[in-house]
Amino acid sequence: MLKDKTIIVGVTGGIAAYKAADLVSRLKKQNANVDVIMTKSATEFVNPLTFQTLSNNPVHLGMFDKIVKWDVEHISLAKKADMILVAPATANTIGKIANGLADDLLTTTIMASRAKIVFAPAMNTGMYTNPIFQENMLKLKKLGYEFVSPGSGMLACGDYGQGRMAEPADIVEYVIDAFKEKDLAGKRVVITAGPTIEAIDPVRYITNHSSGKMGYLLAREAYARGARVVLISGPTALEPPRGVEFVRVNTTVEMFKAVGDYFASCDILIKAAAPADYRPEAMSETKIKKKDDGKDELNIRLVRNPDIAHYYGNRKDRQIVIGFAAETDNLVDYAREKLRKKNFDFIVANDVTQEGAGFKSDTNIVTIIDEREEKAYPRMDKRGVASLILDKARDLIEEKGL
Ligand code: PMT
Repeated sequence: MLKDKTIIVGVTGGIAAYKAADLVSRLKKQNANVDVIMTKSATEFVNPLTFQTLSNNPVHLGMFDKIVKWDVEHISLAKKADMILVAPATANTIGKIANGLADDLLTTTIMASRAKIVFAPAMNTGMYTNPIFQENMLKLKKLGYEFVSPGSGMLACGDYGQGRMAEPADIVEYVIDAFKEKDLAGKRVVITAGPTIEAIDPVRYITNHSSGKMGYLLAREAYARGARVVLISGPTALEPPRGVEFVRVNTTVEMFKAVGDYFASCDILIKAAAPADYRPEAMSETKIKKKDDGKDELNIRLVRNPDIAHYYGNRKDRQIVIGFAAETDNLVDYAREKLRKKNFDFIVANDVTQEGAGFKSDTNIVTIIDEREEKAYPRMDKRGVASLILDKARDLIEEKGL
């Protein structure tokens, strides 16, 4: 994913420097060229040899090191970088950059570079929340520098709070997203995800196996491509993706209303959710008790929920409306029927009985169908499927001149 990208990783002096080793290794696995600059205090935490081995490149330490190659090191590093990623970024380094101080190889390289600069702060929570640090961060944000927010939890110093460096896997995701072409900039994309739940009584409900993964990855991909994204989700165990407006719902009726709130202003609506088609006619206010009346059955009367896709698909004006079809048989025929009835621009059909497709898995096997053609794709990760869907939506927008 990061082939032909040169990333300078700046490692500054904090205990999270050990996590930077994992970060460099992950960037290399994405085929990035990685050069590491360590500040003097970073070398107190991790031996430069670790980064040299992981990056496959000599580590850059000081402004006045013995000359191995005749060039001005901070300028040549600054020029070749596609991104400078400072992780961990201490309050000291961030403070220096915010105030125009350049007194070591890392800060001079940052000051000289026109590349995207990203900081992954790591520090004690008192330092992180200190107004001086916050002001420095705000100033840099206004100038276009980017920050990967630290997480909360137990810090190395024993305190509890915000300040722990973001996980290397999340930082790598941030880097990958940053290089995506912003071909959906200015577009508003509404995505539904996950299951809905319909209460039978206060402790029981009807639902299905949707994990939300497909919809959440669509939201992430759309955001990475510059769209303003609204993610309307039923209950899932997933964290809402960074940067998206998140609307949490429980029932199909709630999802229907939430889509209604955003439909008029959206450019693309993607219905990846698996809303329950039926709900109990009435929810019992109290837990339904087993009865010893000799009958071995309990009947719950169900009534139809609104079909969200059908309703909005048939009321669209300029919007591109994309549906999914979760099928167990007759995949293409049933999907075509939904394409027509729900007036989708195209439909993504998945056979949920196939291994590696449909509910819960990280991969999917889809056939994308519109009025003109149908195309079956091999198994791929759901982010890849999301990318295909958004490519097709973008092409349609261009075709319609929207
Ligand atoms: O969430 P994951 O675990 O990642 O799984 C992904 C998925 C299998 C849920 C997803 O790929 C998928 O297929 N979503 C659609 C599931 C579904 O409800 O399919 P359907 O064939 O019953 O519905 C057809 C379309 O109508 C869908 O776009 C659905 O969102 C929509 N619909 C259905 C019922 C309803 N009451 N309102 C709707 O809008």
